[in-house]
Amino acid sequence: MSDITIDVQSSEPDAYGYRQFTLGGFTFRRDEYFVHVTWPTGSHVLSVDDFLRALQRDCAWNFFYGTVNFDHVLGTVNRYGTVDLFAGRYNDAYRKAELDHTENFPTDQIGGTFRTMLDDWTNETFDPFASPVETQSAWGTKNGSNTAAVTRRRVAATRMVGVPGDEEIRTDETHQINRMFADVTQDEPEVHANPGFEDEVAGFSLFAYLSRSDVTWNPSVVSVCKDSLYCPTTEEYILPIVHGNDRVEWFIQLSDEIRWDVQDRDSGAPRARVTMRAGDVAAMPADIRHQGYSTKRSMLLVWENASPTLPELIASGRAPQYPIDF
Ligand SMILES: [Fe+2]
Repeated sequence: MSDITIDVQSSEPDAYGYRQFTLGGFTFRRDEYFVHVTWPTGSHVLSVDDFLRALQRDCAWNFFYGTVNFDHVLGTVNRYGTVDLFAGRYNDAYRKAELDHTENFPTDQIGGTFRTMLDDWTNETFDPFASPVETQSAWGTKNGSNTAAVTRRRVAATRMVGVPGDEEIRTDETHQINRMFADVTQDEPEVHANPGFEDEVAGFSLFAYLSRSDVTWNPSVVSVCKDSLYCPTTEEYILPIVHGNDRVEWFIQLSDEIRWDVQDRDSGAPRARVTMRAGDVAAMPADIRHQGYSTKRSMLLVWENASPTLPELIASGRAPQYPIDF
């Protein structure tokens, strides 16, 4: 978060108790069940629980890599410094009817508006990061707030979890073992570093660490080697956004099973269904969007290449859309 004061344009609380927001030509308001979005050429309605789950990820990930589709109409594209907010831009029918609309905002401006909206529209009983059975409903008129939940600090190691001074391993004092990971062994590796190397040699049990995750569908950085980021996450129910890649992402299924629906990134046309079971490895190409489904809470390792040069290299054809030649 920067120190710049963000100009968030919003109303006083309306008849439902919620503030209404304006961002360029877009307006956002919520009622007891729905979020209503308008733009100069159209309007859209989303279920408020789906909207808040998607908004939570977009805020927590600072707009992530590439496209965050809230659904088949609304979403954001990270331009890394600015963000496109779009309606219908990546929907063939909206494009052909010329009803689509895109505006570009400084990241701080859209981020400030989105974070204020998320906090105002999330009631006391609802946690947008939790699985549906672990939180209460998002419905109804304004009823308190859950600021602690919607402003959770995202895990972002600078070297690796467990290295002195970096992100700490999780314990009973900080994180309870999730009900679906009660069988995960909690043993930690013994590390015997030579004198002088105590700060350089570390190890931790990633399975034990993930068994204590209190959020779903939230890739967190646990190790960094230059641009190579290991971003494991625990998944239950449905990925609340449809992620449109601007680079290749590798998936390693660490436990249980996720079903992925894979579509063309720009049109939304179906391209593949991928069922990943424990031990499976897949690479999502740079020209797709994908959404996952997981009944049993599962562990997924997302391997990201964070190089800032990648989107341009791929968009200009100098790097391939796919990950590897055999
Ligand atoms: Fe993705």
